[in-house]
Amino acid sequence: GGVKAKDALGNDISVSNFLETHNPGDRVLAQGLKGDPTYIVVESKEAIGDYGMNAVCTHLGCVVPWNAAENKFKCPCHGSQYDETGKVVRGPAPLSLALVHVKPEDDKISITP
Ligand code: FES
Repeated sequence: GGVKAKDALGNDISVSNFLETHNPGDRVLAQGLKGDPTYIVVESKEAIGDYGMNAVCTHLGCVVPWNAAENKFKCPCHGSQYDETGKVVRGPAPLSLALVHVKPEDDKISITP
């Protein structure tokens, strides 16, 4: 009974296609609950992660890009950083990125709070 994650065009994301087109360790931006920008984790070649991260910086709301080379999220607005699980490791952000539950459902990505 979750919300289906959508791609940039507003289409449901196929889990099998998602896993074929991304690399293990990637964090991939999708539209999640209420359309919020949400990272889906590529856990391995066969599985998406159980948790996704809301991409909205907890400081003043910029969307935080994933930096694969440094394995962290780095906010371009005021320099906050979050580790690969979304835990804040550098301020001024006061809180870690909000997490959501993620699971495959009929080859689509389902998100719940
Ligand atoms: Fe991200 Fe200020 S909005 S550091």
